[in-house]
Amino acid sequence: MSDKVRIGIIGVGTIGSVHANNYAKVENAEVVALCDILPDRLAEKAKTHEVAKTYADYNDLLADPEIDAVSVCVPNNMHAPIAIAALNAGKHVMLEKPMTLSAELGKQIIAARDAAGKQLQMGMVWRQKPSARLIKEVIENGRLGEIYQIRVKLIRRRGIPGLGGWFTTKAQSGGGGLIDIAVHFLDLVMWLSDKWNPTKVSAKTYSKFGSPIKDYHYVSMWAGPPKADGVFDVDDYAAGMVRFGAETTLSFEVAWACNAKDECYVELLGDKGGIKMDLEADPVLCTEFDNRIADITLQYDKKDEGFADELRKFCNAVQGKGEVPATGEQGVVAMKLLDAIYKSSELNCEVDV
Ligand SMILES: NC(=O)c1ccc[n+]([C@@H]2O[C@H](COP(=O)([O-])OP(=O)(O)OC[C@H]3O[C@@H](n4cnc5c(N)ncnc54)[C@H](O)[C@@H]3O)[C@@H](O)[C@H]2O)c1
Repeated sequence: MSDKVRIGIIGVGTIGSVHANNYAKVENAEVVALCDILPDRLAEKAKTHEVAKTYADYNDLLADPEIDAVSVCVPNNMHAPIAIAALNAGKHVMLEKPMTLSAELGKQIIAARDAAGKQLQMGMVWRQKPSARLIKEVIENGRLGEIYQIRVKLIRRRGIPGLGGWFTTKAQSGGGGLIDIAVHFLDLVMWLSDKWNPTKVSAKTYSKFGSPIKDYHYVSMWAGPPKADGVFDVDDYAAGMVRFGAETTLSFEVAWACNAKDECYVELLGDKGGIKMDLEADPVLCTEFDNRIADITLQYDKKDEGFADELRKFCNAVQGKGEVPATGEQGVVAMKLLDAIYKSSELNCEVDV
């Protein structure tokens, strides 16, 4: 192997470009090939990122012996087939979130990883945020004590991405806001608290704003513009409660769209302290100090190189210089949780994870 990990990026839409830009910051990475089914986009991105080799078919990229590893940056329904094909072809895999469409498919990806003996990393970039790493340290130092309640709140007033496109078409995305954005935060809190044993879920998902597409009023749209003749058959709001055995509960609310102000935070409550990771504010440790109620605002370096950090860790793992920071096994736990949330909603009762 050369001293740099030679990368192929499969899918060069929004996040594929983010990967290309951030591999450029990683000393031991070199993007050597791009792949996309859209020829114009592929040509444009090859020019922008100065990558010589392009492939219209991912199977051809996977057959290229000059590629060590791939970033899989395609719509969710293609995660499992491409990740499995890549591992079977002997490539290491950096797989964007959500892992795939179900825990069952996730287990198939892990089986392919084990058979190939290659690295598999989940794209859980929120874990790399400076505030997340700080809070992880605070928790590991015992400042929260026993964590018994976790809150996840992720509210967009009108934030459905690419309305009518693949994000809102269940066959391609596997679901709406829940699988798209809640997956980041459910993973984040399980990682922060080191609780990977969700046992029961009671939840409900709703679809209130995405359809009919022509009636959706919004200010701006990620992955837009809306396709008036497209599909919206997924959730745009979900709420529920998860039990981790008898010790810990997690309440969550996630909306691509709802009639409430935007909010985005996770909060962990322990018997010694509580802490909130809020996009809009510094973390505050709510605790007691010298027998008094005390709020400690934590100062830290806010420089966020999350994507570069996660891709650097991936390349280091490929070169045997560390472990992947987000494993396939953790990806499967997150998928099990999502499966159970959708099932609970469908059955209108609490279900086992
Ligand atoms: N980590 C994050 O914060 C983050 C952010 C955005 C998206 N994502 C994830 O990244 C993935 C892609 O999202 P996006 O926003 O970049 O979507 P996108 O639509 O902008 O890009 C997807 C690209 O994949 C291409 N593609 C589709 N099928 C293909 C195939 N068979 N072979 C090769 N290329 C193919 C499409 O033509 C498109 O260019 C999704 O799974 C999404 O959940 C992660």
